[in-house]
Amino acid sequence: MTTHPVAPRTLDELSDLVTPYAVRIAATLRLADHMATGHTTIGDLAEASGTRPRPLTALLEYLSRRGLFTRKSAQEYGLNEEAERLRDDHPGGLRFRLDLTEVGSHVETAHLGYVDFARHDATAASAYEAHYGTDLWTALATDPALAASWDRFMSGVTRIATDQVVTRFDWTRHKHLVDVGGGSGTLLRAVLAAHPHLAGTLVEIAPAAAAARKALRENKLDQRATVAEQSFFDALPDDGDVYLLTQVLHDWDDSDAVRILHRCAEAAGSDGRVLVVERLPHLNADGLQTSWMDLRMLTLFGGGERTEEQYRTLIAEAGMSLDLTQVVSAGALGGEMVLLECSVHA
Ligand SMILES: C[S@@+](CC[C@H](N)C(=O)[O-])C[C@H]1O[C@@H](n2cnc3c(N)ncnc32)[C@H](O)[C@@H]1O
Repeated sequence: MTTHPVAPRTLDELSDLVTPYAVRIAATLRLADHMATGHTTIGDLAEASGTRPRPLTALLEYLSRRGLFTRKSAQEYGLNEEAERLRDDHPGGLRFRLDLTEVGSHVETAHLGYVDFARHDATAASAYEAHYGTDLWTALATDPALAASWDRFMSGVTRIATDQVVTRFDWTRHKHLVDVGGGSGTLLRAVLAAHPHLAGTLVEIAPAAAAARKALRENKLDQRATVAEQSFFDALPDDGDVYLLTQVLHDWDDSDAVRILHRCAEAAGSDGRVLVVERLPHLNADGLQTSWMDLRMLTLFGGGERTEEQYRTLIAEAGMSLDLTQVVSAGALGGEMVLLECSVHA
């Protein structure tokens, strides 16, 4: 029999960690994938997932009661619609994001530092830093497995808006795209592949710079694009005529965001364009954010989501004007993603 999950309403349900962890354990053990290949009895599933029957049964009894997986008998469980989303090849990519051994869980643990970060005498710039003692970028630079996991994680998020960024902006007017903080280059590669007249530069720090170089080479785009391994707080390569910042500014507080925008404006010059791709948060009746992503950015980086007006103000402070806002992905992770086109004041 299939049961359906109940939306959390009470404090008990809102504060429960048993359910989220149980789901993540199922994701980590790839139970949905094992079931999809015919392992549905406890004996088969235990063997396929390398687990013992007692903890496996307790997990599946609980999850099936909450509406994830169906219970066929005390010894047999199966997939339902929700559990199908836990398969590794599901386009939503949830299994990977929930896997306890991957970066998604690593960054969620940063919430444990939020109390210290929130205190009036806090010294850490984010909850992540309060908990781990370093910022995420430094952690990635010293842990190759974590960096590879982050790369896969970010590429999945970026793909939400890629098609629209490739088609919405008039790339024919430009010759050279500089993707600033472009990660391993998911978006740059898509734009270059769709617009063969364009050259590209990707600005990144280690280890993303190395991953981007490798991906450009593997996609035979290394003749058209190079990687500038440097900080975006330093002067940027000035041979571009369009500069792109995708999901970068929300990692930083206002003064750092203006510094990054200013570097782009300075390099683009008065004939160039600066493009910002970010999420605009939903606002409540009082005009305040209720965004999941805002809380997440504050937790991870001490940054946050901003409204269009807040971006307009930062863009103006950096010597530019916001000319056009286009939606590139509606309803993405708690807010619509937009492409903000900016021109530099002469
Ligand atoms: C949230 S990710 C966005 C990546 C990419 N634009 C995307 O949308 O997939 C932010 C990126 O900023 C890069 N970054 C952080 N600090 C940097 C710095 N000081 N200079 C250049 N890049 C930096 C990180 O390595 C990371 O790849």
